[in-house]
Amino acid sequence: MKVTAKAPINIALIKYWGKEDEKNVVPYNDSISLTLDCYYTETSISSSDRPFQMVLNGVVASMEDHIHIESFLNHFEGFKENSNILIESKNTGPTAAGLASSASGFAALSVAANRYFKNNRSAEELASITKLGSGSASRSLLGGFVQWHRLSTIEQIESPLQDVKMIIVLIDTNKKEIASKVAMKKTVETSPLYPIWIRKSREAAILMREALEKGDFQKVGQLTEESALLMHATMYASTPAISYIQDASWDVWNLVHELRKQQVPAFCTMDAGPNVKIITRDAYLKTIIEQLKIYGFLDFVVSGIGKKAEVVDEN
Ligand code: PMV
Repeated sequence: MKVTAKAPINIALIKYWGKEDEKNVVPYNDSISLTLDCYYTETSISSSDRPFQMVLNGVVASMEDHIHIESFLNHFEGFKENSNILIESKNTGPTAAGLASSASGFAALSVAANRYFKNNRSAEELASITKLGSGSASRSLLGGFVQWHRLSTIEQIESPLQDVKMIIVLIDTNKKEIASKVAMKKTVETSPLYPIWIRKSREAAILMREALEKGDFQKVGQLTEESALLMHATMYASTPAISYIQDASWDVWNLVHELRKQQVPAFCTMDAGPNVKIITRDAYLKTIIEQLKIYGFLDFVVSGIGKKAEVVDEN
């Protein structure tokens, strides 16, 4: 038997950065993301005559990854009794560079395992397991705009903003030096700005949901930038300081701010890596891309709104 699932990446507009409950992955605030259609993970699970083995992007995963994935799979009923499986996983985008590969990775693995072990959970039920692999992964189970309610589960937000695009400007796709899991724990424990982060992010999630439902793109963009800036400021205030931003990242932010002065609706966000994501609308893509090229940012990917994670093959 072989089951293959595909899951998209998602980029948070209102960020998740820090857990109140580490074990059960309960974040301090709700986060809201946009599922994208540019990069995804495809993962297959097949029966094998050998004990559990994982191959990631064509290479046998490290011992550490094996331990992590095995303990994750223990949350699926039937895994312990049927653990002779081969998992093959491929990311179409860069891995561990702040481009949500762990989000699409754990979402694809969850959807594949759910079907392979016949657990029959809905996406909302599956989120409670998926988030244990990577918090943001639970949001990749659904398409479009997705809210991760910190005390319950995921939910798709209906929005008239269907022409939204995201341009991912690739600054550096090397593996990040500090994993987001470690960095967010340090931030919670040491950043004096953390209480402000919690308060502002909780307020921002409510406002973002309203703006998405109303179709107020200006507000969506403004809240997106504020959330990213406050997250990076909060982690920068940690001891020792944590920073994923590079000079070239700021150059992109500055360019986007200049474009805004010329009435181009474009806003930036960044995650645990130096790559900058620009959120805009379809009609302005051409102008922004022209400007990126003029300023020498030639490495970028344009994305539309992505669909939910799903099983794509089964035999
Ligand atoms: O889900 P994790 O543990 O990879 O953390 C994700 C953290 C950010 O990407 C920076 C923010 C987010 O909400 O996706």
